[in-house]
Amino acid sequence: MQELPIRLEMVFGQVKKALREDLRGRFVDVGSDHGYLAIRCLEEEIADFAICTEIHKAPAQRSHDALTEAGFGDRAIVYITDGLKGVELQPGDIIVMAGMGGLNIIDIIDRALKDNGFHTIENVTFVLQPQKSNEIVRNYLARTGFVFEDESVCYDRDIFYNCMRVVFKGISTTLTDEQACYGPVLLKKYDDGDEDVAGYFEHLNGLFEVRQRSNPVVKAALEERKANENK
Ligand SMILES: C[S@@+](CC[C@H](N)C(=O)[O-])C[C@H]1O[C@@H](n2cnc3c(N)ncnc32)[C@H](O)[C@@H]1O
Repeated sequence: MQELPIRLEMVFGQVKKALREDLRGRFVDVGSDHGYLAIRCLEEEIADFAICTEIHKAPAQRSHDALTEAGFGDRAIVYITDGLKGVELQPGDIIVMAGMGGLNIIDIIDRALKDNGFHTIENVTFVLQPQKSNEIVRNYLARTGFVFEDESVCYDRDIFYNCMRVVFKGISTTLTDEQACYGPVLLKKYDDGDEDVAGYFEHLNGLFEVRQRSNPVVKAALEERKANENK
């Protein structure tokens, strides 16, 4: 079994939850680098076929070699491309973008929305693990018509990470600053007493105390959080 670091186990956990009984699609890893996630998905039969995309040649070759070595050469394809350019999405596909900057993720999703029809996009699940700019990503997703199905957190080698699973419904919504910065699903989990989320929020609170000086959205979010915490 392909071992994954804690961060990618968290991502894989959301991929498993994205599986639909009525619709089986492909696993698509954007920015696959090493290809580990695709290998694990094929091993665990999350999908019959995996697509990896890479903007750079060397990581694309790494993904290709790892998939071939694992015996999945005929059930996977690696494209050297920018995001999802040239990949025609299909209903049921599960798309991962992990370990990438939030603005890069937004740009890739935005182009995919334009390149694929409504019927396809609303039947595709996105699992996103931005390295930064979480509040910008969440605001973009809500405004664009995505719904947050789940969010999770983990602590891997002294760093906190978070991950979100979203689907497109086409109805634009607005998040509060608190929801954008802390995560709408994570806030519910926190209220339900989730200890991992509590640890993550403690970390965010410390981070936001510094960031609020130069970021009014973070400042408002921190104030909302403190007010709700004291209710
Ligand atoms: C930090 S690595 C993360 C790899 C893997 N997804 C993970 O989470 O471990 C980011 C990878 O995304 C690739 N990448 C960055 N922008 C991309 C884009 N627009 N399209 C495809 N790949 C991209 C980079 O070349 C790099 O290999």
